[in-house]
Amino acid sequence: MGGKKSPQPDKTIITILLVDDIPENRENIKKLLGFEQDFKVIGTAGTGREGVEFAKQHKPDIIIMDINMPDMDGLQATEIITNQVPWSAIIIMSVQNDADYYRRAMNAGAKDFLTKPINMDEMYNTIRNVYKRHEHVRRQIKAIEEGAIALPRSPISDLAEGERAGHVIVVYSPVGGVGKTTVATSLASGLMKEDVKVLLIDADLQFADVGTFLNLNPPSTIVEVAEDVNDLDTELFENIVATHDSGLKVLTGPVRPELADTLWERPETVSTIIEKVRGNYDFVVVDTGTRLDQTLVNILQHATRILLVGTPALVSAKNMRFVLDLFDQAGFPPEKTVIVLNKMMEERKGAKTPTISPEKFQSYLKRNVIGILPLIDERLLLAAVNRGVPFIGSDRDANKPLIKQLHGLADSLFNELMKDPEDAKETNTTEDAKKKSKIGFLGR
Ligand SMILES: Nc1ncnc2c1ncn2[C@@H]1O[C@H](COP(=O)(O)OP(=O)(O)OP(=O)(O)O)[C@@H](O)[C@H]1O
Ligand SMILES: [Mg+2]
Repeated sequence: MGGKKSPQPDKTIITILLVDDIPENRENIKKLLGFEQDFKVIGTAGTGREGVEFAKQHKPDIIIMDINMPDMDGLQATEIITNQVPWSAIIIMSVQNDADYYRRAMNAGAKDFLTKPINMDEMYNTIRNVYKRHEHVRRQIKAIEEGAIALPRSPISDLAEGERAGHVIVVYSPVGGVGKTTVATSLASGLMKEDVKVLLIDADLQFADVGTFLNLNPPSTIVEVAEDVNDLDTELFENIVATHDSGLKVLTGPVRPELADTLWERPETVSTIIEKVRGNYDFVVVDTGTRLDQTLVNILQHATRILLVGTPALVSAKNMRFVLDLFDQAGFPPEKTVIVLNKMMEERKGAKTPTISPEKFQSYLKRNVIGILPLIDERLLLAAVNRGVPFIGSDRDANKPLIKQLHGLADSLFNELMKDPEDAKETNTTEDAKKKSKIGFLGR
């Protein structure tokens, strides 16, 4: 059998769950899989429901799933497992070999499809293939699981003399180009008020854009600061970090990705910088790239709030859901992550738009949508970048589209995080304020 020759330099064992309602099928396949040294069938189940339970408990690498089963069919089970156990990759098997079944299986989250009667060589290859293709997901989950819980910040009232609140707001999206840098630069600027100190850090080590957005090209970037991170003196930091015309402090990212080699090698560096300097600021806003690697995971652990930015598209929702599942697995409390929807188009009556409403996003993702930012003419954004000002500060008229909503976003975060807990209790209006600001965002 072809599988015998399979290369296994690192002796990887692929753990497998078999879900099929016919006991004979299960036994046969199990036996045949047993011939392959890199496979280990760790369980079998006779219904979709049993399959889901087993998957939740044992997180097999691969699940071979029949479609037609009593109790809960394979497609339903696939959908649940895809959402709740992202570690496991599912291969559907079915006697129905038509495009419709294939499409339904893939929509449910299956990674591949096998037709019955099963050709075992094909099954071996498919399992190894899917296992490999799913590796990046397993890697991300592992990265998050390695020491996941953020150190809680002490309450503001307990701060030492001269120490500031140091709220870390990380702006992230697994998808590129959704507006992370636009939001991060404007949010940092919008949070600045009298006697409020804000630092903006560009932690997108691959495509650092903050310097370009704000027209800053300081001699000391994150690369230089990282060089002697262990001896980082917070006062010195304050002097070498760039200052934007608006007064905003900015730690820019690597001018070119290859300069960040040492940062990649030591993934705790950026989070160490953040930990060391956050007490100097009321807010530290962090712009990020799309890569959910160990550097980013370390940063996320230190975050007070994660602003997950998305656009109203189906892929965006799916990717956000995936990331939120990882955060859940990491033990991040749900309220740590909030959603910001960018590039929202106004709904046109009667038009069949492919976009998703904020309400749908909120119920699908089970997280608060705290900002709804409209799609505007991109030339306006470009003009702000050309002048090196955050978009929020590009026009005096705070009622202009996008500017208004960015102010709303900054204000709601400011109120939520800076409000004295005692005040909040007394007035008990945070919930109302939240509701109001949510509805107000799209209003012009
Ligand atoms: N609300 C908006 N309306 C119209 N265009 C927008 C809006 N927000 C952002 N853009 C545009 O989308 C593009 C991507 O924005 P931005 O660079 O902020 O995204 P990003 O998520 O940081 O991207 P990357 O993944 O490359 O870092 C830019 O050209 C920006 O001007
Ligand atoms: Mg960016």
